[in-house]
Amino acid sequence: MSRTTGFEEFLKKPSCLKSFRRFLQKEFSQENLDFWLAVEMYKNCTFKKRDKLTVVIYKTYIHEDAPNQVNLDADAMNETLQRLLQPDDTTFDVAQKNIFELMERDPFRRYMADKTNCMKSNSFGAVGKLSAAKMEAHDWLKMWETNNIRFHQNSVHPHLVKHEKNVFSVNSRIYLPLCGKTLDMNYLSEKGHDVVGCEFSEIAILDFFKEHSIAFTCKTVNSSGHEFDIYEATDIKITIYKGDFFALGSQVTGKFDGIWDRGGFVAINPSQHGDYAKVIKDVLKPNGKYLLNSFRFPDPNWKGPPHSISQEDMENTFGSHFKITNLETLEPNKNFHNVEVSNFLLTFP
Ligand SMILES: C[S@@+](CC[C@H](N)C(=O)[O-])C[C@H]1O[C@@H](n2cnc3c(N)ncnc32)[C@H](O)[C@@H]1O
Repeated sequence: MSRTTGFEEFLKKPSCLKSFRRFLQKEFSQENLDFWLAVEMYKNCTFKKRDKLTVVIYKTYIHEDAPNQVNLDADAMNETLQRLLQPDDTTFDVAQKNIFELMERDPFRRYMADKTNCMKSNSFGAVGKLSAAKMEAHDWLKMWETNNIRFHQNSVHPHLVKHEKNVFSVNSRIYLPLCGKTLDMNYLSEKGHDVVGCEFSEIAILDFFKEHSIAFTCKTVNSSGHEFDIYEATDIKITIYKGDFFALGSQVTGKFDGIWDRGGFVAINPSQHGDYAKVIKDVLKPNGKYLLNSFRFPDPNWKGPPHSISQEDMENTFGSHFKITNLETLEPNKNFHNVEVSNFLLTFP
């Protein structure tokens, strides 16, 4: 791969990737970038996942009737078809190189001419696009950029495992507000649910798909002046909307049978509680169930996030629309500020 244009380095930067994808979208040639990314994932996936991914990539990008067929030259196509007879981690290498060179030769050059230099663009550029452009957006994005994500857990949340079966019906459509890259999404998907997350950090979303070798497609939708990138897994039911939770309503996502909220409600500013409740009310089906993992810190000087949520906060925020059931409150955690963790179940009365 040529190093002179900087295209290879460019593709490693999420903010550049995003900007380049938009450029390609306008030209209806985004499938080239998606294919290139899918092959990156393929090369790093486990042996166990490879068979499945081989078929997905072939059917999505290579086959003559593929919905997102890429424009391979004859040599690259023949070589790829040969390699598909005995797939290994190099199956799509020639095709990927072909598409890389195609993008580098043409759209990338025009893109760079257009943008002067994407590499130098402000890494918080996305913030300005968020409707509210709140300070919290800036702070969260910075945390992802500096990998300061101590809230992220490398295992499925034990309280989800404990309550999932009793709270959510089988094959539910479940929403995870402010989802980060939580493994709870994989868990719920493996349980047969249709999983939808919302997150405004592209780093979080791309990390999620990459870390689990999940192939995906991405498209952009506009709703009432807000833009959302929809990242949709191609072979399992996980979709993540990239954008501001407060601007994402049921007119875009549809309604949900269930909501699992770990690190969402407790993460937002207390001044946003009312707006948060409005979104929850909007996206939950009439018989839907909202499972909320919440914290109460006894120290009155505690400054979140996570913020301390009192029983009174719960009533004030959700009481007029929901029936609130406290499923459990755990013993205060002596190792962490005596925090009391509760799991609430909210339903419409
Ligand atoms: C405390 S983390 C929790 C992440 C995830 N639920 C978990 O359990 O790991 C909060 C996440 O919400 C995202 N976020 C904060 N405000 C948001 C908003 N208004 N819209 C979309 N995402 C937001 C942040 O980028 C961050 O990844």
